[in-house]
Amino acid sequence: NNQISIAIDGPAAAGKSTVAKIVAEKLSYIYIDTGAMYRALTYKAISNKVDLEDEQALMNILNETSIELLPSEKGQLIYLDGEDVTNDIRTSEVTNSVSIVSMHRLVREEMVSRQQSFAHSGGVVMDGRDIGTHVLPNAEVKVFLLASVEERALRRHNENIQKGFPSDLEKLKEEISLRDKLDSEREVAPLKKAEDAEEIDTTSLTIEQVVEKIMDLTNERM
Ligand code: C5P
Repeated sequence: NNQISIAIDGPAAAGKSTVAKIVAEKLSYIYIDTGAMYRALTYKAISNKVDLEDEQALMNILNETSIELLPSEKGQLIYLDGEDVTNDIRTSEVTNSVSIVSMHRLVREEMVSRQQSFAHSGGVVMDGRDIGTHVLPNAEVKVFLLASVEERALRRHNENIQKGFPSDLEKLKEEISLRDKLDSEREVAPLKKAEDAEEIDTTSLTIEQVVEKIMDLTNERM
C-alpha cells in the first residue's frame, strides 16, 4: 500500500483543517496543521512581549522553542515547550497577529524545515498556505480550497456561537479579508494555488462532499 502526501492549501477559514483531519483519519495518515505552528510561535512572542516585526528576535525565540502536534481523541493537540496551548493559539489576538509573524523569511525557513521533517516518512495530510508550493512540492495530491469570504465568515461565526463564544459577523469578515490580503501579498511563499493543485470551491458543498472529492483524487494517485 502506497503512502502518499496530501497538500491542502487555501485562504483563512476555508475548512482546510476540518477536511484534512477527516481525510487523515480515513487513510490512517498523520495530520499536520502548519498554521498551528505559526500560531504557537505568535502566542509565545506575544507572551514574551517580543516585537512581531523583529525577525531576529523572533528567531531567537523560535530556535529555543519546541512545537509538537499530538493526535488525540478530541483532535490534534498543540504543545509549546511541553505545555498544551491548543486553545490559547486560537484567540483573536493570536489570529490577528499571526500573519505578521509568518511574513519573515527566516521564520518560514525554519518552520518549513520542521514541517518537512514531520512529513519525511510519507502518509501525511498537511494543511496551510504554502504546502503545495514550498513545503511538499512533490505531494501526489494537491488541493486548493476556496470559498467566498461571506461563506467563510458565516461558518466561523456559527462555530463561535455553537461554542458559546462572542462573535461579530462583520468583524470576522474584515479580519478574514485582511489575513488573506497579508498572506497573499507577502514576499516569501505567499498564499497561492500551486500550478498542479486541484481547485475546489467549497462555498456550496458540504464537508462530506469536499472529503469525497479529495478521497477520489487520492485513490486515483495511490
Ligand atoms: O491555518 P491557520 O488559519 O491556522 O493559519 C494561521 C496563519 O499562519 C495564516 O494566516 C498565515 O499567516 C500563517 N500560515 C502560513 N503558512 C502556512 C500556514 C499558516 O503562513 N503554511
